[in-house]
Amino acid sequence: MIPLSLADIAQITGARLDLVPDPGVTVTGPVIIDSRSASPGALFAALPGERVDGHDFASAAVAAGAAAVLASRPAGVPALIVPDVPAAMAMLARAVVDRLPGLTIAGITGSAGKTTTKDLAAQLVERLGPTVAPHGSYNNEIGHPLTVLRATAATRYLVLELSARGAGHIARQCEIAPPSFGVVLCVGHAHAGEFGGLAEVARAKGELPAALPPDGVALLNADDPRVLAMAGRTAARVVTFGRAAQAAVRAEQVRLDDLGRPAFTLVTPAGSAPVRLRLHGEHNVVNALAAAALAGELGLDVPAVADGLSAATARSKWRMEVTVRPDGVTVINDAYNASPEAMAAAIGTLAAMARGRRAFAVLGPMYELGGESRACHEEAGGLAARAGVAGLIVVGEDAAPILTGAKAQHSWHGEMLAVPDPAAAVEALGARLAPGDVVLVKASRAAGLERVALALTGEAQAEEARAGQARAGEAGQ
Ligand SMILES: Nc1ncnc2c1ncn2[C@@H]1O[C@H](COP(=O)(O)OP(=O)(O)O)[C@@H](O)[C@H]1O
Ligand SMILES: [Mg+2]
Repeated sequence: MIPLSLADIAQITGARLDLVPDPGVTVTGPVIIDSRSASPGALFAALPGERVDGHDFASAAVAAGAAAVLASRPAGVPALIVPDVPAAMAMLARAVVDRLPGLTIAGITGSAGKTTTKDLAAQLVERLGPTVAPHGSYNNEIGHPLTVLRATAATRYLVLELSARGAGHIARQCEIAPPSFGVVLCVGHAHAGEFGGLAEVARAKGELPAALPPDGVALLNADDPRVLAMAGRTAARVVTFGRAAQAAVRAEQVRLDDLGRPAFTLVTPAGSAPVRLRLHGEHNVVNALAAAALAGELGLDVPAVADGLSAATARSKWRMEVTVRPDGVTVINDAYNASPEAMAAAIGTLAAMARGRRAFAVLGPMYELGGESRACHEEAGGLAARAGVAGLIVVGEDAAPILTGAKAQHSWHGEMLAVPDPAAAVEALGARLAPGDVVLVKASRAAGLERVALALTGEAQAEEARAGQARAGEAGQ
């Protein structure tokens, strides 16, 4: 964060100072929510957690050097008391942005691919100057301001992932860190249940282009009519990207290697260059094009964009993570989350990677789809069957309509199996997998199917140890 005195922060957030001997003390950052990461000059934001209350760790944070705590009640240490800690974090984030006129802010939204595109874009934009981007999917009311607050006087670019679970969320994030560049990937079914339908999803995602200034740039996916229509909701210049021939930034000669990694010619108004992605799945082509369009508008030349895309790695875990086991079984761990669009992309990648080898799809429930849930699951089952998988393993009662969808494909003769939980899926696979097979594991995060993938790749024990440590240390959250 940029240095601010406790008096400055009190003024910005409307906080009352409690037990502060010297309001001139400077917070040099970072702003933290885990007392274990406290360092001299930090500001500890005390949040109520699911199991623990941050206020209980205020003294530990100050003992470790934190200059003060941002809290909603006195905590026995120097504190800035506010009625709503996340709201105060948002105010502080906005104030930091206002004090950094040299900062260029880009926002990325869409129903699927935000984190991947953000990670790709950050790896390109870093070539232009110091860049701050969220870790993983740090994009909620806490993660968003925390990311913005990482900006310092040296930061040139903020690349933000903007997510919404309802109307107004993205507009609010755009108030905290007003973007001049906005990328919209797609309008899909993720959280459509909470929104009330695709039209509402489109309206919410459109809050990003609507927030852009006239001298900004809206980067819109030409393949998605609902996204393209957002051109009518922005004062900014529009640049399109996508697979469509009329997209300004597009891919030609797309092909996949044996591990489903796309290679293509990046075509832009400024020239063309070959790209070979390290990410798996054809759906990542459009994510790469979005990142390329953004970086190009920010001033990165085409060879550097192509080079950067070809060097970029997946920074966030469990999204199409491909592991080839020593016995030749290939495991695709895409258990981070699921929506119908992501499900279709993953099954398509499985089919492309299998090419004559046996494919297994281990699919669990997709949550938060509202009234379309059953139809979406049946569609996923149909896709798996039409992809010709040798085995379809459906995990959990909530995912049962996947079986119905697969059964409806009468020309498919693969094996179909319903199992109650991840452990049973692992057992079923153990009896079936042979060298050369390809296995896709996919469901919503809440289904916990990463346990299947981690057991298959032999990472389960290491992951269990890590999770155990995290649990033991969670008291400090
Ligand atoms: N362009 C896309 N189309 C369909 N599915 C995608 C796309 N990009 C990513 N996915 C899939 O969506 C899931 C979430 O990806 P992620 O990049 O974390 O997106 P988000 O942050 O929007 O949730 C993963 O399973 C990923 O493979
Ligand atoms: Mg995300």
